[in-house]
Amino acid sequence: MKLVALCALFVSVASAKRVVISTPDAPGAIGPYSQGIMSVGSETSTLYAAGQIGLDPATGKLVDGGIVAETARAMANIEAIVSAANMTMADITECTVLMLDIDDYSDINSVYAEYFDEDAAPARAAFQVVALPGGASTEVKCIASV
Ligand SMILES: *[C@@H]1O[C@H](CO)[C@@H](O)[C@H](O)[C@H]1NC(C)=O
Repeated sequence: MKLVALCALFVSVASAKRVVISTPDAPGAIGPYSQGIMSVGSETSTLYAAGQIGLDPATGKLVDGGIVAETARAMANIEAIVSAANMTMADITECTVLMLDIDDYSDINSVYAEYFDEDAAPARAAFQVVALPGGASTEVKCIASV
């Protein structure tokens, strides 16, 4: 019985297809990672999107305007990756928010909240961290599933 269960697990893992998600509407990867990886299964597909900071994909630079502008750009980048996977923001199940200064939390939330239905916002964890890449003040990373 156990062996049968193990074989079934192996078959389902082996049949999931790994699709690289890439879009010019989000910043190109600046390291050994993909903008997104979608694990396509027969029943469910899950998108693992790379953490996004407020980089403007057109310039490759951090946007000016402080925490609100950075958060807005990071969220737009996430939306671009989610769209490239043919998913929507409503498909996001879980996010992680990193910020340099916990006092920015309410400003981040005010922008973040615009992207989700308030009654069904993704599960989330948030952390204050010592440093973020590229001089960013916040980074948001999400997982979506359909
Ligand atoms: C998204 O949908 C388009 C149009 O159907 C298709 O060409 C493309 O391969 C899809 N992308 C992914 C990542 O499934």
